[in-house]
Amino acid sequence: MPSDSVLEEIKSRIDIVDLVSEYVGLKHAGQNWKGLCPFHTEKTPSFTVSPSKQIYHCFGCNSGGDIFSFLVRYENISFPEAVSILAKKAGVTLKADQKDRVRAGEKEILLNIHKDAVTFFQQQFAKSDKAKQYLDKRGIDVRAQKLFSLGYAPKTWNALLNYLTAKGYKADAVKKAGLVTQGTKGIYDTFRDRVMFPIFDPKGDVIAFGGRSINGDEPKYLNSPETIIFNKRAVLYGLDRAKDSIKETGYVLFMEGYLDVITAHIHGFSNSVAPLGTAFTQEHGKLIKRFAADVVLVFDSDDAGRKAAKNAANILFQSGLNVKILTFPEKEDPDSFLRKNGKEAFQKLLQEPLTIIDFYMLLKGDRRLIAHEAIETISRISDRVLQGSYVKMLSERLRINEFFVIEELKKLKKTGPGEAPKATPRTAAKARPVNEIYIIKLLLQLPERAEEITGLISAEDFRDPVTRAVFVKMKAGITDINELLSMCEGEEKDFLTGVSFREDFDNPGKALDDCINRLTGNKRKVLLQDLQNRIKEAEAKKDLTLLNSLLAEHQKLRRDGKP
Ligand code: UTP
Ligand code: MN
Repeated sequence: MPSDSVLEEIKSRIDIVDLVSEYVGLKHAGQNWKGLCPFHTEKTPSFTVSPSKQIYHCFGCNSGGDIFSFLVRYENISFPEAVSILAKKAGVTLKADQKDRVRAGEKEILLNIHKDAVTFFQQQFAKSDKAKQYLDKRGIDVRAQKLFSLGYAPKTWNALLNYLTAKGYKADAVKKAGLVTQGTKGIYDTFRDRVMFPIFDPKGDVIAFGGRSINGDEPKYLNSPETIIFNKRAVLYGLDRAKDSIKETGYVLFMEGYLDVITAHIHGFSNSVAPLGTAFTQEHGKLIKRFAADVVLVFDSDDAGRKAAKNAANILFQSGLNVKILTFPEKEDPDSFLRKNGKEAFQKLLQEPLTIIDFYMLLKGDRRLIAHEAIETISRISDRVLQGSYVKMLSERLRINEFFVIEELKKLKKTGPGEAPKATPRTAAKARPVNEIYIIKLLLQLPERAEEITGLISAEDFRDPVTRAVFVKMKAGITDINELLSMCEGEEKDFLTGVSFREDFDNPGKALDDCINRLTGNKRKVLLQDLQNRIKEAEAKKDLTLLNSLLAEHQKLRRDGKP
């Protein structure tokens, strides 16, 4: 774990407004900046960033923090990962511990191996008439072949291995990259006699390959195994080429395969991506949310395609994306449709993709079952406004009162369809005693009085665990908001940023005195009440000794309470 001073150094070099602006559209609002919260769905901005305090807080979902916590939550990464990304951005070198360095070194080697493998496959492609003819037959021109760095793996057992070891890579590293496979008689090239599709991460580094068989060998597509640089479930083919266009158009086209994506690019639909032969995952959804809010699913119009579309819609709605579906009139996939009917025909379909409701209504089968499937999908929509409009649409299509749809939705929520929609705002803040919140706020405002106050009240005076935990840290002498944040996590952090954004007190000295009096006054009230109860008990039990000592205590407490 990097030291505090390194973290401070990184913080001092990265402005939180700049960082957040890379992910969230921010507008000036007084001293602060405001935008739509990336952590929950909202229509009016309550996500606030303070350039002076270098913190953010969302008043809708009540979460907040500094540059590190923002990245952790946004990218769903660990704290050390966020530190390493931001250190790089800030130009601060981290003293990584040994293990991290080895792993980083290993990743670097695997990336280099992939880079060199691409070159090798491209050289082989240039020499192979068979491979060229194959792509030609599939309508992939030289430009697209270059754009996607397509290549060819020759029909030998070790050409790639030899090429890479000659470059100085250890056979073991090539194995870790998944490019050679261990057999009983030794290792051999994983990909043989296949047209090669390099798989890029969003940054543009090659992290794996897909190989299309051109001689009828099974499987039709062979993909790299998972490695330390390749997590299949989190990768979208074509995203590195598509991301600018996705941002520009505001939506993404989700297709099923490599060839669909490439053909779409050739025809000008460069906002197309595809998973790698897996179902869509929440990770895919999260990845896309960084670039756009709308998704159009373009799946094969056979049963398998429709089923895949249904599942994808369920997953992606849950990720907070708005999903529409494009279906083809016949049994086509995007690749074959585009090549047969051309760009304009596709453009026309794209003008009116089906809403999820219409998609369900067009399905053949038992109407009640389909209605229930539709409701299940609606239940996954995290945007309440969108959900409402789909409830209305479905009830109109079914010619029933909205009420019935809502009732079914409620049932699903109780039993939980797979999983209930996530991102329920944390509302614990409301339950916190105002007095305790004020004391923390006032101590932040008047750090010079912290020492004196911590002598007057103690942690036990705080009923709320969060304010109490923060107070304990302040009691230990930490009153700077940023220092405090670095020591807090989760709810404590959210609470602290929220409190920092509250307006300062006009007369903080007096307010603080009032709060302390109220707190100690409360304490006395509670103690008195407790004593009175015990006195009653002692009276009932006729325990005179106990009664006398309790009465004395009672007297003393009342006397002390007088100002
Ligand atoms: P499809 O079978 O629909 O292939 O698989 P396709 O994209 O239409 O391919 P062509 O047109 O026959 O060449 C869709 C995707 O599923 C994955 C691949 O990512 C493919 O692009 N897949 C398919 C595999 O991973 N392995 C396979 O054996 C088949
Ligand atoms: Mn196809």
